[in-house]
Amino acid sequence: MLILENNGVFILETENTHYVMAVDCTGVLGHEHWGRKCADVNDYKSTYTSWDKNSNHSARDYGKTEYIPYGGTCYRTPALVVTYADKCREAQLLYKDFEVTFENEDTFLLEIILEDKHYGLEASLFYRLREGTDVIERFVKLRNKSENVITLNKVASGEFNLPSLRPYSSTNFNGSWAAEFYREDTAVKNGVLTYENRKGGSNHTHNPVFILSQNATEDEGDVFFGALAWSGNYKVEIARDFTGRTRAVIGINDFDFSYTLKPGEEFDAPSVYCGYTKGFSEMSNQMNAYAVEHILPKSFNKASLPVLYNSWEATFFDVSCEGQQKLAELAADIGCELFVMDDGWFGERKDDWAGLGDWYVNKVKFPNGLKPLIDKVKSLGMRFGLWFEPEMVNPDSDLFRTHPEWAYHYDTRDADLLRHQLVLNLTKPEVQEFVFRVMDDMLCEYDISYIKWDMNRAYSQTGGENLENPQELWYRHVKAVYEIADRLKEKHPGLQLECCASGGGRVDYGALSHFDMVWTSDNTDPIDRLEIQHGFSLLYPIKCMRAWVTDTNRRSRPRDFDYRFNVTMQGSLSIGGNLLKYNEEELELHRRYIALYKEIRETVQFGRLYRLADFENDHLYANQYVKDNQSVLFLCKSVNTFFNEKFYHVRLKGLDGLARYTVKYDNKEENYGGDYLMNVGLGFEMGGTLESKIIVLEKE
Ligand code: DGJ
Repeated sequence: MLILENNGVFILETENTHYVMAVDCTGVLGHEHWGRKCADVNDYKSTYTSWDKNSNHSARDYGKTEYIPYGGTCYRTPALVVTYADKCREAQLLYKDFEVTFENEDTFLLEIILEDKHYGLEASLFYRLREGTDVIERFVKLRNKSENVITLNKVASGEFNLPSLRPYSSTNFNGSWAAEFYREDTAVKNGVLTYENRKGGSNHTHNPVFILSQNATEDEGDVFFGALAWSGNYKVEIARDFTGRTRAVIGINDFDFSYTLKPGEEFDAPSVYCGYTKGFSEMSNQMNAYAVEHILPKSFNKASLPVLYNSWEATFFDVSCEGQQKLAELAADIGCELFVMDDGWFGERKDDWAGLGDWYVNKVKFPNGLKPLIDKVKSLGMRFGLWFEPEMVNPDSDLFRTHPEWAYHYDTRDADLLRHQLVLNLTKPEVQEFVFRVMDDMLCEYDISYIKWDMNRAYSQTGGENLENPQELWYRHVKAVYEIADRLKEKHPGLQLECCASGGGRVDYGALSHFDMVWTSDNTDPIDRLEIQHGFSLLYPIKCMRAWVTDTNRRSRPRDFDYRFNVTMQGSLSIGGNLLKYNEEELELHRRYIALYKEIRETVQFGRLYRLADFENDHLYANQYVKDNQSVLFLCKSVNTFFNEKFYHVRLKGLDGLARYTVKYDNKEENYGGDYLMNVGLGFEMGGTLESKIIVLEKE
C-alpha cells in the first residue's frame, strides 16, 4: 500500500494494482491507469489533454478525466452538474492541491483538491487505501467557499475509466420483490446502460454497483467493480463511446435531486468501494473480507451471527403471548440462540391495513405487555428481538389521525397507498425524533437485543413542503435513517440491527455501514434462494445474508428439510417455519443441522468462498467455504429431473495441497490429500431429484 506523487502524477498502489491519475498542462486531472501494476512507476505521466481541435465537433468527450463536470464542449455523462447564483450552469474544475494523511498504520488517505476558482467551488476527491487489499474507497466532498449559494444538480461519487477498448460485460441484477439479485450479464457495446432507482430505497430490481468484466470466469479475466454506499435513489451509468472507451459513473441519482449549498457549507457524496481483480471469485472474497473488517458497524463485525428463530412465516400477524412462548420453547429446544417476534405485536395490527405508527404493545395479544414473553425467551437461554417498520404509517392508526401532515403527501391529491400504508416524512426533525423515541422507549423498557427494521413500500408524493429546497428530500430521508440507526446503537451498545425492505430491498453498503445484517429476500423457496444467494455473494458479505429454513410451498415442493438446510446454511442460518406443526423426526433433523451449523459457522461466515460449479450448465450449485483448518462444501441440484442424473467430479479449491483431510459426508469418513482434492476432485453421483450434500473437510 503506497501513495506516490511526482509532479502532479498520483500513483495509488494496492496489493496487486495501480490506480494512476495525472494533472495535464492545463490543470485538468486526467485518469491514466487502473489495473495491474507496472514495475517502473516512473513511466507514468500525463497523457490526457484537454486541448480541443477547432473543428465542427469536440474531441473532449473522448478524454480520460478523473471527475468530469458538465460544461464546455464536453457532452458525455458528467459526474458533477451545478448551477451558480448568476445562472452559469457549468463548472470548471482545475487542480489546486493535494494532501496525504496517514490515518493509522494500515490506512492512507489521499485528497486531491480541484477548484472552480471563479465561483469558489472546491471539489475534493478522496482515495482511501488499506493494507492487504485491492479495494479502494473513493468519496467526494464539495465545499462552497464563495459568498453565494451554489445549487448542486448532480454529484456522482466517482467516474471510472476502463482500460480496454473492447466491449465489457456488465453484471447487475434484474430482479423484483422475492426475486432479488437475479443476475444478468449484458454486453456494453455502445450507448449508455443505466441502472437506477427512483423509489426512495435502494430497491429490489438493480443494485447500486457496477461490475465490468472481460473474458472473466471465477478465476480468470479482468474484473472492475464499484459498490456505492447509499440506500436511496442511485444511478449507475455505463457508457461506451465512439472510440471504444468504457466509463462508469456511479452515485446518488440526479433524478428529482438538487441540493442547495450555502456559503461555507459542505456536501458529502457517499463512498464507493472499488477494485480490480482477476476473476469474480477474488472480487467477492476481497469485498467480503473488506466489508467485515472496515464497513460493517464495529460492534459485531467480527462476531459470528446467532442462529435465530423468526415468527413471521409461522404466525404472520396472528401473534400472542402464549403462541410465541410455545414457539420459543421449541426454538430453544432445537438450538436457536435468538428469538425474533415479527409483525403484529403492536397497535390495532390484525393485518396490513392498520397499526403502523402505533408502537405500543397490543393489550389483547399481550395483556401483561411483552415481559412474560421476553422472560420466557431469556429463561430458555435465548436473546429477544422485535420487528419494527418505523418509517411508515397506516391511515388507520392513531398516529395518522393525530399527525396526517407527518406522511409524505400533496394536499391536492388522493393519498396513493402501497400495502395500505404511507411513508413518514423523515426530513422533519419532529418525525425523526418520534421514530427514534418509539424504538428507544421499547429498548429502555424491555430487554431487547435485536431489531428487525423493515420498510415495505416505495415513496411517493415527496413534496417536502417543509424544506427550503424540496428536492433535498430523497437525500435527507436516507441520512435520517442512518442517523436514527446510529443513535440507537450508540445508546444501546448490545443492540444488533437487521435491515429489511420487503426482503432485500435495501441491500447496499450504505445500509451495511449502519446495520449488522440484512434480510435477503421474502422468497424462502430453497431453489429460488440458490440464485438469489449466488447474486448476493458476488459483492456482499456472506455473514450478513440472513437465510431461513421455512415450510414455504411456493412452488409446491414437499418439506425437504435436508435440502432446505443445505441451502440456508450457506449464509447466516435462521429458522422460520411453524415448529408447532413439526413431528419429532422433523424437530430432530432441525436439532442435528443447527448443531452442525454451529460447528461450521465460523468457516461459512468468515471464510473464503469458492463458487465451484457452472450452475447454468450443470444445474449444480457447488459452493465451498474455507477457513483455517476447515472447509465445507455444499452441493445442491437445482432441477428436479431424471435427465440430470450425473456423476460429478468436484475439484476443490483453497486447500493445503500437502496436508491430509478427513472428509465427512453421508455418515461416512474418508481421507484424501489436499492436492488430490484440488486436482482430481471428489466424485459423487447426484440423482435426478433435488439432491443435496454437505461435506465437511478437516485438515489433519
Ligand atoms: C416484509 C418482510 O420482508 C417480512 O420478513 C416480514 O417482516 C413482513 N414484512 C412483515 O410485515
